[in-house]
Amino acid sequence: MQDIPGIHNIVAVGSGKGGVGKTTVSVNLAIALSRMGNRVGLLDADVYGPNVPLMMGVNEAPLTDGQQIKPIFKEGLRIMSMGFLNPGDKPLVWRGPMLHNVMQQFLRQVQWGELDYLIIDLPPGTGDVQLSLMQSTKLTGAVVVTTPSDVSLEDARKAVNMFHQVKVPVIGMVENMSYLIAPQSGERIDVFGHGAGKKTAEVMKVPFLGELALIPAIREGGDSGKPVGLEGPQSANAAGFYEVAKVVEARCQELAGASGPTMTVSD
Ligand SMILES: Nc1ncnc2c1ncn2[C@@H]1O[C@H](COP(=O)(O)OP(=O)(O)O)[C@@H](O)[C@H]1O
Ligand SMILES: [Mg+2]
Repeated sequence: MQDIPGIHNIVAVGSGKGGVGKTTVSVNLAIALSRMGNRVGLLDADVYGPNVPLMMGVNEAPLTDGQQIKPIFKEGLRIMSMGFLNPGDKPLVWRGPMLHNVMQQFLRQVQWGELDYLIIDLPPGTGDVQLSLMQSTKLTGAVVVTTPSDVSLEDARKAVNMFHQVKVPVIGMVENMSYLIAPQSGERIDVFGHGAGKKTAEVMKVPFLGELALIPAIREGGDSGKPVGLEGPQSANAAGFYEVAKVVEARCQELAGASGPTMTVSD
């Protein structure tokens, strides 16, 4: 079933906490899926910290024809962000009904065109925006981003439970900032310990999508508007995101098969 005409898969990227790399994963996942041959949109729904414009190096505001908003085209992606409405450092104070309306506009009044994937960078936590989105739109599934620390994992479990409650399939959990490779020795340093993300995914009975290393180039790419995903799958900085993208692609195909219309053969 396509809830929004022309959009084949809607994938939300959520987390229990801010600062765990949700936007970094959203942006690089979108780029990886696009480089793998898909038509991809990226919707930045993080009302509290819309960082997609900065990470994608977008400085212009979207245009409208009075009826519909035209997304920004950049690096092969179609992008829409809460940040476009309120550029700069001033926080925008949104109340529940306004949030609901603006989300609906972003989903249904943006000229997304035909998309294989719409990636949605959700705000952290389990609040109004997430609920309003999930109750009004059929999502293909959700990716939950966590770091290996106990505090992040505790909140990631809440995010997984929220998706379960509203019957959004969990595509899987990604453990970001898993480990560090020491520049001199090449030794792996498990800053927050090892294995907790995978174990949590097992306990919660959701797929584990992999570990992404803590790499300075990933942070630099985000801050400079040139995400590492643009370096392609051969780059050591980007490879992890392409691995995650492959699993997301496979899981979305599975999920589409599971909920799609039953084919009947007639003669
Ligand atoms: N794997 C990583 N390696 C290095 N820096 C990272 C990594 N993931 C995220 N970061 C950096 O950490 C900061 C927070 O990430 P961000 O994606 O903004 O988190 P969130 O969207 O969850 O708040 C950003 O500066 C980002 O560039
Ligand atoms: Mg963010």
